[in-house]
Amino acid sequence: MLCRLDKFLGMTCHLTRQEAKTVIRKKLVLVDGTFATRPEQKIDTETQKITYQGEELLYEEFVYYMLNKPAGVVSATKDNLHKTVLDILTSENVSGLFPVGRLDLDTEGLLLLTNDGELGHNLTSPAKHVSKQYEVLVEGELTPEICETFQNGMDIGEKHLTRPSELIILESGAKSRALVTISEGKFHQVKRMFAHCGYSVLYLKRLKMGSLTLDENLAPGEYRRLTESELAYLKEGKTDV
Ligand code: URA
Repeated sequence: MLCRLDKFLGMTCHLTRQEAKTVIRKKLVLVDGTFATRPEQKIDTETQKITYQGEELLYEEFVYYMLNKPAGVVSATKDNLHKTVLDILTSENVSGLFPVGRLDLDTEGLLLLTNDGELGHNLTSPAKHVSKQYEVLVEGELTPEICETFQNGMDIGEKHLTRPSELIILESGAKSRALVTISEGKFHQVKRMFAHCGYSVLYLKRLKMGSLTLDENLAPGEYRRLTESELAYLKEGKTDV
């Protein structure tokens, strides 16, 4: 790709155009081993070696981050009231990034952030039925019959019954814990499914989306790049690794 040097610095180093101009004038940027002097210089990102403060800058068209979304943060790129998931990635270039699918304000867990529109579409398109697994804590005892209701589908006020989903009860008591796997993504779907069965959800956390599993080393609010194999499996559309 041919691109202006100051724009390239903006894309790779998270610098504003003005900051990029300043570092070029301060002779901190080398193009093929020679100090650059003109911010408007055209460079070829595929064939030329650009170095800033001794480090080679590599242009990546697409980037992929796994975030453990904390509660209280909105799955959006902009919001007037709350911090957004992009605000968490303070040291990254977030231009063009978007969250793949939505988690409610109070839901935690796995959220993919990328600028790859095609992958985003493939993972969220209703026609693809990508599975999503959640850990859920509900008020009250869960009985085996409710697993059947989840399996058979239920009327949550949409045009069709919910698609067959799996409910695995982990602990049942005054408060109960379960794993639920759905393959669609209607607004507040998990909460509405439990509400339909007479339960209110106290806590919800997404653990999986398609082949991608939340890295348990990520505390809420932490994120990392996807590994090559995680990305390859997601792109292949594998549902389980
Ligand atoms: N279902 C919900 O009810 N909320 C979420 O955030 C995700 C799935």
